[in-house]
Amino acid sequence: MRAAVRYSYCSPDKLEVRELPIPSIRTNEVLVKVKASTVSQSDCGVLTGKPYAIRLFSGLLKPSSPITGTDFSGIVVARGADVKEYQIGDMVYGFFDEGLSTHAEYVAVPVSKAMLKKPDHITFEQAAASLEGAHYAYYFLDKLSLNAGDSVLVNGGTGAIGNAAIQFLKHKDIRVVATCEEPYIDYLYKMGVDYVIDYTRQDFTQFDEQFDAVFDAVGKSSFGKCKRLLKPVGVYISSELGPYWQNPLLALAAPFMPGKKVKFPLPLSINRSLEFIHERIIEGAFTPLIDRYYLFDDISEAFSYVQTGQKKGNVILRFN
Ligand SMILES: NC(=O)c1ccc[n+]([C@@H]2O[C@H](COP(=O)([O-])OP(=O)(O)OC[C@H]3O[C@@H](n4cnc5c(N)ncnc54)[C@H](OP(=O)(O)O)[C@@H]3O)[C@@H](O)[C@H]2O)c1
Repeated sequence: MRAAVRYSYCSPDKLEVRELPIPSIRTNEVLVKVKASTVSQSDCGVLTGKPYAIRLFSGLLKPSSPITGTDFSGIVVARGADVKEYQIGDMVYGFFDEGLSTHAEYVAVPVSKAMLKKPDHITFEQAAASLEGAHYAYYFLDKLSLNAGDSVLVNGGTGAIGNAAIQFLKHKDIRVVATCEEPYIDYLYKMGVDYVIDYTRQDFTQFDEQFDAVFDAVGKSSFGKCKRLLKPVGVYISSELGPYWQNPLLALAAPFMPGKKVKFPLPLSINRSLEFIHERIIEGAFTPLIDRYYLFDDISEAFSYVQTGQKKGNVILRFN
């Protein structure tokens, strides 16, 4: 099979597509023929080993798996003797952010990992695009006790995480103000966003409204700058650590701080978020934003594009 391989942490141009043996499966695993995968910010972390904290999970000195890739959709083509949940021919999708070696034509997946049968009405590409960003969006929002009518400002409305977050918030009837660049303003309004800020023209931290929460889904702001946007007990959440890792540190101090505070969720159970995402897809309440499609052989180009920080939602890899 063809697989994208590197034996040390590296830049996209060092990633090579090579011929490798099809993985053999254990008794609790299925073999999936991959139809689509994405290149996400998680994949960039696993490829480069940066930020360094990611090496605690992906391998300290070198990657624990030479093949990149964290998500997939595809067809079960073989199953181990103990597997009861899946049949050969089942269409499935799944995700594991520490690395699952899915940038390959075949992947062996333990059934304990976050994997579900793909809803029939979505394509393999849409299924793969429904995983990474939506998983983090679910966990970040899960830390907020929001009710219908509450309000949230989302910075980064066209990011994979931010765009999924907007859809989950609108599903709960939350008032959403979100940022993006000019070409995507109408798209965000069509998604139900109540007010869109073009971040290239207006500094969102100066917006004249107070929110129950500010979710900086692209991690470009700080608690200090966003404090004025928060109601007296409002919560600030960012997808990034912030300068000097201030976001997790401020979150640790939060129980001792009255009023406005920072939360920094740890996205632990992917099985839980995948079930939530799956339900939203079935209800028709979540459609992932897809930006570009690349052939698997052009994976280095796909990584380079994602590293620019300019992708809109998800970047898809297509397999034959
Ligand atoms: N904490 C965690 O566990 C965790 C996990 C995964 C990812 N992350 C981090 O979360 C962040 C977002 O990930 P993602 O996959 O959603 O990112 P992404 O899809 O790569 O986000 C890129 C998008 O953000 C927009 N953007 C860039 N700069 C912006 C700004 N200053 N203001 C508003 N929008 C801006 C871009 O729009 P334009 O092109 O129009 O500028 C683009 O659409 C990344 O920094 C990633 O490292 C954290």
